[in-house]
Amino acid sequence: MGNILVKQISKEFCNRRHVNRDNDHLCPHGDVIPVLNKIDLEIKEGEMACLLGPSGCGKSTLLRIIAGFDKQTSGSLTINGKAVDGPSSNNIFVFQHSGLLPWMTVWQNVELGLRHIKNPEGKNHVILEYIQMVELDGFEHHYPYQLSGGMQRRAELARALAVNPDILIMDEPFSGLDFLTHMKMREEVVNMHQFLEKTILMVTHDIDDALIMGDRVVVFSNRPSEIKVNRRLDFSHPRIFEKNPELQDIRDELFLMLGVSYGV
Ligand SMILES: Nc1ncnc2c1ncn2[C@@H]1O[C@H](COP(=O)(O)OP(=O)(O)OP(=O)(O)O)[C@@H](O)[C@H]1O
Ligand SMILES: [Mg+2]
Repeated sequence: MGNILVKQISKEFCNRRHVNRDNDHLCPHGDVIPVLNKIDLEIKEGEMACLLGPSGCGKSTLLRIIAGFDKQTSGSLTINGKAVDGPSSNNIFVFQHSGLLPWMTVWQNVELGLRHIKNPEGKNHVILEYIQMVELDGFEHHYPYQLSGGMQRRAELARALAVNPDILIMDEPFSGLDFLTHMKMREEVVNMHQFLEKTILMVTHDIDDALIMGDRVVVFSNRPSEIKVNRRLDFSHPRIFEKNPELQDIRDELFLMLGVSYGV
């Protein structure tokens, strides 16, 4: 189960420089920074939604609210019909760039999410399956420092998948990767999503990632942000722009909307 329903969510931050800390929730002397402005968004179970928008518009803020790490100023958030009032490790996994435990091997890191499997043979089988899914077989017993940045990212993905969450939240998961690793990871996440049908919420700055991967693309305006585009992408995979004029048109439209009029 992984249905996310965001209704009229707004978020304001307070510039704390001049704030009376005993009374900070009211922000009496600080500047109020409106970030999210009445956001309505539904992400259906099993859907992969890609969020795009200018830097500072509040994408990470919305992810943090959905993950339960932060609270909206107003509006409501429900996951599977239940109001969210804090982080839940049961149904949500937040993919982090350096989320691997450095004192554990790849195998042990993946195993962390599988404590509920009691049968050792069954557990070993599942661990290997996820390690193979991200093509890290042969590196099972390496520690994170013995892996390249891209391999670490893939190990983290295996760990996230092993936890088998209903919802996977990814904030710019491919940033800093070299081009080829980025492409491979993108393919792996698409394959994994088609196979496992998890609800995935991913923030990216890469329009092509959003259009090649997403079942839905959501574009935010500048802060205080509103949703400018919320569009289902019912195209089959693999998606190739050159062979899909409709997808290419959406791509051109999004580039223009995000302020790039060349190279589209
Ligand atoms: N804890 C905080 N306290 C005060 N302001 C904050 C806090 N967290 C975020 N902000 C402000 O909220 C706005 C949105 O930040 P956020 O990190 O959500 O943006 P973003 O869309 O993820 O940007 P980027 O694409 O650069 O990652 C920014 O103006 C930021 O300064
Ligand atoms: Mg961000």
